[in-house]
Amino acid sequence: MARNDAKGRRILITGATGAIGSTLAGLYAAEGATLFLQGRNVALLETLSASCRAAGAEVTAHACDVRDTAGLRLWVQAVCASGLPDVAILAAGMNTNVGPAGEPEPWDEAEALLDVNVKGAMAVIDALLPGLLARGSGQIAIFSSLAGYFGLPLTPSYSASKAALKAYGEALRGWLGPRGIRVSVVMPGYVRSAMCDRMPGPKPFLWTPDRAARFIRRGLERDRARISFPFPLNWGTWWLAVLPAALSTRIVRWLGYAR
Ligand SMILES: NC(=O)c1ccc[n+]([C@@H]2O[C@H](COP(=O)([O-])OP(=O)(O)OC[C@H]3O[C@@H](n4cnc5c(N)ncnc54)[C@H](OP(=O)(O)O)[C@@H]3O)[C@@H](O)[C@H]2O)c1
Repeated sequence: MARNDAKGRRILITGATGAIGSTLAGLYAAEGATLFLQGRNVALLETLSASCRAAGAEVTAHACDVRDTAGLRLWVQAVCASGLPDVAILAAGMNTNVGPAGEPEPWDEAEALLDVNVKGAMAVIDALLPGLLARGSGQIAIFSSLAGYFGLPLTPSYSASKAALKAYGEALRGWLGPRGIRVSVVMPGYVRSAMCDRMPGPKPFLWTPDRAARFIRRGLERDRARISFPFPLNWGTWWLAVLPAALSTRIVRWLGYAR
């Protein structure tokens, strides 16, 4: 799709205040899109909205916690009432990890993580689907992670949430594709961001948010089922899912993803 084809396209982004979400918003803003941006951080949301407007976008911003499923669904319904989105990018996410001496992940964080990463994304999609199905078109980008291929011992809950989103997105693509709705599963490796900076363990092949966002946008333009990067980390982590699990566990421990 040519860059200026985004002009007037309605693009909804959750996690728009994050490193990847805000960079994607900037890219689409420069193409003249109409943006619906969600985040929690009001100040960041306002700054981002202003810069996107300056770049040529129409912007409506909404601050909310995606764990407030009812409020989230009301927001999506309000967006749909003004005109269905053409693209929905579900990038809101959080992480937690086992402690420095191998202590369990704090349960309140694990529970919040599942609500944000899994339920938050599913709630937005569920609220979008009636309209998208009736129209018979639309595109959805679901943010999984390379950690969705094989569970990393430092981040069990995060890996589980991203594996769930990978399976959910793949299933949606099979279900919704014949109905005109394109679904892509985005599986980033390490991308410089607040969340990534807090994550323990090695971070090989670290990408900038700009490089990641451009790669994701290109993958969406080409309707890729899976937008995974960077090579060779995506190739290596794919193998972790294919090899015998006992061997994969030894490999990830040996690589430093364990305490
Ligand atoms: N960076 C990486 O290395 C990496 C790798 C694999 C996958 N991913 C995935 O990529 C996506 C974007 O991550 P990022 O790297 O851009 O991280 P980030 O900069 O830390 O951004 C996280 C985003 O999620 C939002 N968020 C978190 N908890 C929320 C909540 N309870 N309610 C509403 N919004 C909430 C944040 O909003 P506020 O800041 O406004 O609270 C922020 O917009 C995530 O799904 C992440 O799992 C990232």
